[in-house]
Amino acid sequence: MTAVGIDAVEVWTGNLKLDLAETFAEEKGKDPAYFTKGLGLRASSLPDSYEDIVTMGANAAKKLMDRKGLEPDDIGRIDVGTESSFDNSKPISTYIAGCLEQVYDGDFHHANKGERKFACIAGTQSIDDAYNWIRAGRNRGRAALVVATDTALYARDDSGEATQGAGAVAMLIDEDPSLVDLSTDQGYGSADETDFLKPNQQFPSVDGKRSVQVYLARMREALEDYESVAGDVRLDDFIYAPFHTPYPGMVRKAAALAYRHVTRDTAVEDELAESIGRQPRRESFDDDGEYEEAVREYMDALKETEQYQDWYAATVDPTLTISRDVGNWYTGSVHLARVSALKTALEAGRDVAGESMLVASYGSGAQAEIHGEIIQDGWADEIAALNVDEQIAERYDLSWSEYELVHDRHNHEMDSELEEFTTPDAEFVFDGWGRMGERK
Ligand code: HMG
Repeated sequence: MTAVGIDAVEVWTGNLKLDLAETFAEEKGKDPAYFTKGLGLRASSLPDSYEDIVTMGANAAKKLMDRKGLEPDDIGRIDVGTESSFDNSKPISTYIAGCLEQVYDGDFHHANKGERKFACIAGTQSIDDAYNWIRAGRNRGRAALVVATDTALYARDDSGEATQGAGAVAMLIDEDPSLVDLSTDQGYGSADETDFLKPNQQFPSVDGKRSVQVYLARMREALEDYESVAGDVRLDDFIYAPFHTPYPGMVRKAAALAYRHVTRDTAVEDELAESIGRQPRRESFDDDGEYEEAVREYMDALKETEQYQDWYAATVDPTLTISRDVGNWYTGSVHLARVSALKTALEAGRDVAGESMLVASYGSGAQAEIHGEIIQDGWADEIAALNVDEQIAERYDLSWSEYELVHDRHNHEMDSELEEFTTPDAEFVFDGWGRMGERK
């Protein structure tokens, strides 16, 4: 069977930076370690006044198309995953196609365009749609462009404010992919949840603590569902495990859950259970005060074991490097985690072609999806072509009062003072309605 998967990826960060350990911590009178150690974040990326989900997505897509030598005729489908859409009718992919048509010969009139919405998992769902379209033989030799783009902003003083972020990840889905083959099994965990909602509102209403429990519950279901088709997961089958990363501290919890699930029945688990005086119930994480306390104690002890720490350092920690400096990119987040892991391998001079990754996507509302991916021979060239470190380093470092202006601006408070902190040097910039995505 011909491989179908991600052929190429490009990343585009918002051009502004809010330093959490310094600027945010000082303003809020908080211990910097709360951000760097507790949440696991150093900084957030934010959009400058001329950036939004369209410009970031179009700039990432343009970079990808140029690097791969693509013309509009090579692309038969453009899907955008976003939860920051400003249009209840037209999909954001039409705006992005409109931008791209200004700079290429030809157009995307032949391309099927859409927008997927399921919170942060929509980027992964768009990839699934593209994969299925190619597998069904409906692509007529064309590839699919998938763009995950979001401005992940929370109301000021919301518990999520320190986890904000903004950026886009563009991916080309094609036959014989250079980066990863997606032709493996999938598992789902999905339920109607109300911990994170945006009913006709700009910022989410979030029950932060509950959202953590919902993430873990759906992830456990997805893992079980995945194992029901793929067979039991063995830790050494997967070189990396990129998770949806709202902040690295969340992934620490999810990784411990996955590790506990996968290593059940081992001597380590039995010994630890004994040490806290009980046989851990393995089937459920449902609310039950006493049980929750026992599980927490058990998990804390598990995380102290050498086996766990070695696995986490090798398999999960490399997926978090980029996220620490940019925050939550919602739909792009898990795809940044994949890039982060492969970038670590490249920097360490490892050849990981032929190895597998266990990829865990999640979206509030809520749904988790787990699937396997096989790293392809062209991975190193694809990852070496990215300039994500430069993009992160070149962001403008905001003072607190500048951050407040930027936040107001992106809360559609159009009367707020409009200021550009960086010089627009990208292909597409937002220059007001009607002239959106105009070339600079
Ligand atoms: P919080 O309320 O500040 O949480 O914010 P906390 O008090 O539990 O502190 C976080 C960690 O910092 C804890 O460690 C503390 O012990 C530690 P943990 O128990 O996690 O290991 N800590 C410190 N460490 C070192 N030095 C210190 C210190 N103080 C405390 N001085 C919360 C956390 C998640 C509630 C908040 O960030 C939030 O509301 N975020 C937004 C929602 C979110 O990200 N939820 C995650 C799951 S849902 C999801 O991922 C979907 C999402 O991406 C949206 C979508 O799908 O569209 C959000």
